[in-house]
Amino acid sequence: MRLTCKFSVLSYDSLAPKKMQAPRLRYDEANVRTIPVKTASAEYSVIVGNNILPSLYRRLAPYVGTSGRRVFVITSPQIWSLWSNSFLASFPVDTQPTVLFQPPGEQWKRFAQVERLITEMISAGADRSSLLIAFGGGIVGDVGGFVAASLMRGIDYIQMPSTLLSQVDSSVGGKVGVNLATGKNLAGAFHHPKAVFADIELLQTLPDRELRAGLFESIKAGIIRDAKLFRFMETQRDSILSRHAKALEQVIAASIRMKAEVVGIDERESGLRMILNLGHTVGHAIEAATHYRKLLHGEAVAWGMLAALEIGRARGTVTTAQAERIEQLIFAYGPLPPLKVKAAAIVEATRRDKKNRAGVRRFILPAGIGNSVVVENVTDTELNSSVAHMLTLVRARR
Ligand SMILES: NC(=O)c1ccc[n+]([C@@H]2O[C@H](COP(=O)([O-])OP(=O)(O)OC[C@H]3O[C@@H](n4cnc5c(N)ncnc54)[C@H](O)[C@@H]3O)[C@@H](O)[C@H]2O)c1
Ligand SMILES: [Zn+2]
Repeated sequence: MRLTCKFSVLSYDSLAPKKMQAPRLRYDEANVRTIPVKTASAEYSVIVGNNILPSLYRRLAPYVGTSGRRVFVITSPQIWSLWSNSFLASFPVDTQPTVLFQPPGEQWKRFAQVERLITEMISAGADRSSLLIAFGGGIVGDVGGFVAASLMRGIDYIQMPSTLLSQVDSSVGGKVGVNLATGKNLAGAFHHPKAVFADIELLQTLPDRELRAGLFESIKAGIIRDAKLFRFMETQRDSILSRHAKALEQVIAASIRMKAEVVGIDERESGLRMILNLGHTVGHAIEAATHYRKLLHGEAVAWGMLAALEIGRARGTVTTAQAERIEQLIFAYGPLPPLKVKAAAIVEATRRDKKNRAGVRRFILPAGIGNSVVVENVTDTELNSSVAHMLTLVRARR
């Protein structure tokens, strides 16, 4: 669909070079879903289901093979204290993996940890044939994936995401890396996992705020590409927030399918993959302006989606009724922590967004519900008024 709009826009379809086809789902005997990811450089499966851990060893067999490949696990102490018994239960006593730890927190997502972890792995006997499992949230996944990309120029690894955000977003797509003192995610690589195991059971111990923050990325998936997911999240809010496995599975599988489809078409973010950044221009700016301390990523993205929505409403890419539905859905998964930051600081921070190319500020706007457009001509006036509008919503909710 090409939108009639007085501004130049790239429609979702114009960014998709070939006919889009949602990845097909397969179910195995335990009603675990398998979603294929197929990109220009990699092909792997995302396995989504409740209670995957008890059969983990059997499920790893195709990746471990029969040649006695060493298995390493990178996790965080917090996750390991909750889940190590279940994680190890299926491993025979003489085939236990070697476990290494990444400290929790964005401040530890750094090169120094990658170097330490690689050194520890080599001291423990890792070689080119070793298999690494990154077991944790997005931080463990990004650092673990970067370790796997770097150790001896790349070893195989498996993502075992334990937060909602990492299950629906960061574990799929092959982006791995670390933060620098100068900014988030500024050093990294593309290194796809050999498989992703998303066990919904792990979410039972996730703090409520982390669950909601991840769900904002699923709302994003619904807005940009999947009207059915959007509707499901509207009607099933209570089951989702009370962590009913079936409801969570629907949301997670639909979000992963959307991401798999998009990265399958545009692995390196040269076109279509940009739509995954709905809410991220202002979201990243809010995170930077608040020094990454006040809001979780998903919460900042939720505020950012409200700002993008306002631009879309003013430009007519969404009707007022659609804008209201989107706004209501975002607030239905709140509460969003209030923002104490000046509009000027947010606007200024958007100028430093690493996704800007040659000074062009890129925005993703919703185009109705279930579709989106990429625009590069958002004016300062539009940005200022969308941020001002967003801050009005912030004040109204104090
Ligand atoms: N690579 C990508 O494509 C991509 C995409 C989006 C985000 N990211 C990155 O992901 C990171 C954020 O990931 P996140 O939101 O998962 O945060 P996180 O990894 O910091 O995890 C959040 C918190 O939840 C805890 N936790 C994790 N699993 C748990 C469980 N099952 N039970 C109880 N507690 C648990 C963690 O210890 C941590 O304290 C950021 O660094 C971001 O840059 C990467
Ligand atoms: Zn995000």
